[in-house]
Amino acid sequence: MLPPRILVTGANGLVGQALTRAAARWPGADVLATGRGPALAHARGGYARLDVLDGDAVDRAFQDFAPDAVVHAAGIAQVEPCETDREACWAVNVDAVATVASACHRHGARLVLPSTDFVFDGQDGPYAEDDRPAPINAYGRSKLAAENALKASRLTDWAVARTTMVFGVPAGPEPRLDVVRWLVRELSAGRPVRVPEDQVRTPTYDDDLADGILRIVRFKRSGVFNVTGREQLSVLALAHRVAAAFDLDDRLISATTTAELHPGAPRPLRAGLLILRAESELGYRPRPLDAALGAVRDRLGLGVRET
Ligand SMILES: NC(=O)c1ccc[n+]([C@@H]2O[C@H](COP(=O)([O-])OP(=O)(O)OC[C@H]3O[C@@H](n4cnc5c(N)ncnc54)[C@H](OP(=O)(O)O)[C@@H]3O)[C@@H](O)[C@H]2O)c1
Repeated sequence: MLPPRILVTGANGLVGQALTRAAARWPGADVLATGRGPALAHARGGYARLDVLDGDAVDRAFQDFAPDAVVHAAGIAQVEPCETDREACWAVNVDAVATVASACHRHGARLVLPSTDFVFDGQDGPYAEDDRPAPINAYGRSKLAAENALKASRLTDWAVARTTMVFGVPAGPEPRLDVVRWLVRELSAGRPVRVPEDQVRTPTYDDDLADGILRIVRFKRSGVFNVTGREQLSVLALAHRVAAAFDLDDRLISATTTAELHPGAPRPLRAGLLILRAESELGYRPRPLDAALGAVRDRLGLGVRET
């Protein structure tokens, strides 16, 4: 199989950076990283500015680069901004997906869209790919609408990679902190943290997610795949695992509830995803959580932990 030409949107984000790094390691692959602002992480194929809200610019990028595959990692991934500005959230998370899907259809490219366990209501997780979505906040509704826009599009070569609570070490001056790095920063500074005990997820290491998504591309698979870590645990339990992995004082950690922490928008509580399909059909093997936390520690330059 010829190595593909891969276009990544949102390449300055947490997921986009991991994808760009991983795609650049694919022998012979040509990668074009695109993002709204100046490049934070370069791909071998280069970097171009691309605002996915600009349909003409999207089309020009497809004409110029002629991708075989597009990983559409541009999006608004936070709950509160989606709740407070639903129009902006819908424009980026839904309308732009339809724009990119239509460009993929016209230019003969396959499309992979990262999505989320927030498409579920959190009554009964962890969820399989064919469980019934029922989002409970604006972010979740926008991501489900994006998945549905793909299903309704004329594009047939599409896949959705649902993930959750991604953590890693992206480049950038002040990247939005994921939960792991937030915990490391706060606990390292000796500040107490309050963490929800009622929210359950399957936290996902960014390099594992990128590997799973690129397997979807490599094996030319379509449909919905869950691509997360394997371990399901509460955010409170995760905080204790982070404290242990980074030798930080876990007496600074106390339990709270999601409702108390985020009064503005509900979150699915018993969520997280089952990855059996990705394991059996893609050979996806995420590393154990403690190994992923160790990898973050290494990337932060904190060295390997002595046991
Ligand atoms: N992080 C998670 O835990 C998680 C979990 C489940 C699903 N996902 C999904 O994964 C995708 C990526 O999320 P992420 O965590 O990487 O978020 P992120 O770190 O906030 O990155 C999102 C990127 O999208 C870019 N973007 C926003 N609007 C754009 C536009 N109009 N044109 C071009 N780029 C635009 C942002 O650009 P700027 O850098 O210029 O702001 C940012 O670089 C999202 O679809 C999200 O729903 C993420």
